[in-house]
Amino acid sequence: MHVDELRELQLKRLQWTLHHAHRNVPFYRDKFDSLGIHPNDLKSLDDLRHFPFTTKDDLRAHYPFGMFAVPRERIARVHASSGTTGRPTVVGYTRKDLDTWAEVMARSIEAAGGRPGDVAHIAYGYGLFTGGLGAHYGAERLGCTVVPVSGGMTPRQVQLITDFQPSIIMVTPSYMLAILDEFEAQGIDPRSTSLRVGLFGAEPWTEEMRREIEERFAIDAVDIYGLSEVMGPGVAQECVETKDGLHIWEDHFYPETVDPFTGEVSDGGELVFTSLTKQGMPVIRYRTRDLTTLMPGTARPEFRRMRKVTGRTDDMIILRGVNVFPTQIEELVLRTAGLSPHFQLELTRPERLDVMTVRVERRPDAAHPSPEPLRHAIKDVVGVTVAVEVVEPETLERSMGKLKRVIDKRDNQ
Ligand code: DLL
Repeated sequence: MHVDELRELQLKRLQWTLHHAHRNVPFYRDKFDSLGIHPNDLKSLDDLRHFPFTTKDDLRAHYPFGMFAVPRERIARVHASSGTTGRPTVVGYTRKDLDTWAEVMARSIEAAGGRPGDVAHIAYGYGLFTGGLGAHYGAERLGCTVVPVSGGMTPRQVQLITDFQPSIIMVTPSYMLAILDEFEAQGIDPRSTSLRVGLFGAEPWTEEMRREIEERFAIDAVDIYGLSEVMGPGVAQECVETKDGLHIWEDHFYPETVDPFTGEVSDGGELVFTSLTKQGMPVIRYRTRDLTTLMPGTARPEFRRMRKVTGRTDDMIILRGVNVFPTQIEELVLRTAGLSPHFQLELTRPERLDVMTVRVERRPDAAHPSPEPLRHAIKDVVGVTVAVEVVEPETLERSMGKLKRVIDKRDNQ
């Protein structure tokens, strides 16, 4: 599709979405009416900036089914994200939405280098989380042989990869590291597997982590992005031939970036999505809290790319006035000789001042790496003083899905 045709299609779909939401979801109707704005006011894509944002709190306030735009009977499936506090966020899909999701997810797997006939090992969690089922139906749609393993039981993951000979794996990058360790524990060379490509997402990960996974498994590691409120995995995908950020499937999801503080549309900042085709639960200008920049397309020129998401507005740690993202630490850990990619950040407040301790496992083949090089690197690059503790291999808890990187003990003190 030519980009002009795409813009035309987006405008038509955006107008439909605004009308659909306004007509069928009291939340949107009240909000638009109170601001004196009507779907007919959208004459160009640019006019979208005049419409109000939707936040996670809005979805929570209408728990469980208050954001649905069709009668409940037409909702074919629900998913929910586990709220760390309070109510989960519930999302609903019509049959047609599930069909769209399978389609964009199949497109993602293809852009990652997957082909019909490939065996796809899915180790994203199945259930209310969108990772497992989203990847599953996309891989089926593409024509893969799907192995729906879900997360956990790591020795069995290794056995199934060895026996079923998948060429594709879909899993969080942090759980891929646990699978890596298990291969080594069983004395099997991870570079010897049939795997060719991995689609890693659901959590932030760095270029350094990509290098680690690619080298140790001898595969291509590409980034997949999505969120339940907008659809699930398959909103944007990195193409294997360029590995230069993620192409957004813009015929279904309309992206903007805004200044996270003022909400003004800006070149880079917080990613905001408006769904273009969703029936069950359309979202208008949904604030993702993910930080990125939009760029022109490359491997798929009609679709804009988003830079790899390495931070969220709400996972930024402010340590004695300095902003720190966990991915900045990941980058430096992986650049330090002798340190493994397994690390945790612990925040404490011993004497009214915040202290961050980076607890990191040594690599099994490094006898006694000193904590000093990492401490210095963090001071030099990030600009904060932290404590570094190098611990023994296999002592930090492993994630089986989304990793919890930060342990915040500040409130208990
Ligand atoms: O994590 C959907 C997903 C599943 C994406 C499997 C990719 C693969 P939620 O549980 O709703 O949905 O969490 C969405 O996870 O707003 C980001 O903060 C984060 N996230 C997802 N993909 C990436 C990524 C799924 N590739 C939230 N890089 C999003 C960085 C990501 N963060």
